[in-house]
Amino acid sequence: MKTLIFLLLSSLVLVLSACDNKSTLPLPVSLNEQQAKLFAQSCAICHASSSNPAPQVGDKAAWNKRLEQGLPTLVQHAMQGFNSMPAGGLCTTCTPPDFEAMIVYMATAQTKK
Ligand code: HEC
Repeated sequence: MKTLIFLLLSSLVLVLSACDNKSTLPLPVSLNEQQAKLFAQSCAICHASSSNPAPQVGDKAAWNKRLEQGLPTLVQHAMQGFNSMPAGGLCTTCTPPDFEAMIVYMATAQTKK
């Protein structure tokens, strides 16, 4: 079941990124259980902490600006690091589809934290 959700989510993300890299992402994406756990242990430390300069979960304006460079570039920056964003975002077991899902999640989440 988890695998199915993961596959569905990955293909959704792929479809979204294939459509047009530069457009903003209209659909809110939720993370699967494993991704949600990894997200809470890594990305959330900075991206769900208003005292951190990182673009915050659900801050659509901040993410739309970053999405202008295209989702693949954001995934690359998440994996390789970007200024004060550490390489891999402190997630050593995240796969490229995980990073992509987490970024789309942060950019589309309804609640601003
Ligand atoms: C230690 C804090 C920290 C953690 C943990 C962290 N980030 Fe970041 N992240 C940042 C900061 C700070 C920035 C803003 C960097 C800048 O623009 O100078 C950032 C920026 C980004 C960007 C935008 C890069 C761009 O090109 O504009 C993405 C994408 C991103 N983070 C994804 C993630 C993901 C996915 C995770 C979890 C796997 C994560 N981050 C974990 C601090 C963090």
